[in-house]
Amino acid sequence: MTITYKTAQDIEGMRVACRLAAEVLDYLTPHIRPGVTTNEIDRLAAECMARQGSISATLGYQPPGYPPYPKSLCTSLNHVVCHGIPNDKPLKKGDIMNVDVTVIKDGWYGDTSRMFVLGEASIAARRLSAMTFDAMWHGIVQVKPGAHLGDIGAAIQKFAEGHGFSVVREFCGHGIGRKFHEEPQVLHYGRPGTLDELKPGMVFTIEPMINAGRREIKEFGNDGWTIVTKDRSLSAQWEHTVLVTETGYEVLTRSDACPPPPAFAAWTSESLATA
Ligand code: MF3
Ligand code: CO
Ligand code: CO
Repeated sequence: MTITYKTAQDIEGMRVACRLAAEVLDYLTPHIRPGVTTNEIDRLAAECMARQGSISATLGYQPPGYPPYPKSLCTSLNHVVCHGIPNDKPLKKGDIMNVDVTVIKDGWYGDTSRMFVLGEASIAARRLSAMTFDAMWHGIVQVKPGAHLGDIGAAIQKFAEGHGFSVVREFCGHGIGRKFHEEPQVLHYGRPGTLDELKPGMVFTIEPMINAGRREIKEFGNDGWTIVTKDRSLSAQWEHTVLVTETGYEVLTRSDACPPPPAFAAWTSESLATA
């Protein structure tokens, strides 16, 4: 297993797949409200992908040691850290939920997730979601040729822990392309200057899972997928797929209704430099 470097033509394919993944989230956004079940959200996503001519990368996905994942996306509610499976329970006011969408288009994978805050969630819940968004972006702006993977993790960890949150260690970002999970692993903690050097053509996700309480996690129930915080504290996650360009980065999983970058960032490092 080695890192794949994408050609200009590969990048065109990745741009399309990544935009479609983001557009699924755009489409779902008005439907994510109290009273709706996560199974309904899953069904809407499946319909949206069918219209796009994309297919879900998660439906039937079965890494070694796992049962096949049964749904078209992941819905991780409140203290669920990741890989929550849609079900028939209606969402409630005050819930926070990550929706993680990965599609395949013409053989290319696009992977992105967002947080949704339903109704009058607590200040703590809204703050966790907003801070995790900023944590992801603090990682993204590190991306440029010559930087190291450790720079990304260190920036995320410093920001998150500096605000009193903890960083989940067991799951990480990942290279992505013609496979769902490629090398390298993109840790969301670490030390600057360590691990692989970033080079143009690398494409990987940055997807920090940040807990309000302790960082420890455990498996929940016996579905083989759902991961929760051990202390039952709230957890949040955001995810973008990012390309290393000749001079910096380009976020590929953007769309018309995608939450815009925070003030210190931009969709591409080029637009940041001229802003
Ligand atoms: N989309 C997740 C990621 O960001 C992986 C989900 S795998 C699933 O890597 F099977 F749980 F859907
Ligand atoms: Co994902
Ligand atoms: Co991912």
